Amino acid sequence: MKNTDLLLQHPLFLEKLQALEAAEADRFFCKHDLEHFLAVARICYIHCLEEGLAINKDVIYVAALLHDLGRVDQYQAGIPHDQASYQLAQRLLSDLDFTVEEEGLILQAIAKHRQKDQTDSASFASFFALADKESRLCFHCPAYSACKWSPTKKNRTIHY
Ligand SMILES: [Fe+2]
Ligand SMILES: [Fe+2]
Repeated sequence: MKNTDLLLQHPLFLEKLQALEAAEADRFFCKHDLEHFLAVARICYIHCLEEGLAINKDVIYVAALLHDLGRVDQYQAGIPHDQASYQLAQRLLSDLDFTVEEEGLILQAIAKHRQKDQTDSASFASFFALADKESRLCFHCPAYSACKWSPTKKNRTIHY
């Protein structure tokens, strides 16, 4: 995946990822690390395959790698991370090689990944938001009781 490979070597991406890892080193709740990003990508890809939604795999992985990258700006500057990730994505996508349509899919998925009503439709952004939630192993989480996710939102089983 050409753009995924380019992004994984991009200096700004690596700088933000390392800052995020440092900021969350002692985090008790779910981390926003490379493992989470790839879990989201893989689950979202499965949804797209199952539902027959023809989305380039490179689009899915780049969206997943970027969707929480702005968390570090949320910690440091109080910017909601969906907005911060969107702004970072705009900068990083200009150094990648997607079509305008593909860039739009990525930016929309990032912008909407925290919106609850997204999980009701069959769009790429809705599958992406669903994958983001499904990636969390709530049933095996030491922070289960302290986590502010509602009981109905917490994952008790594995779907993918
Ligand atoms: Fe997020
Ligand atoms: Fe996430």
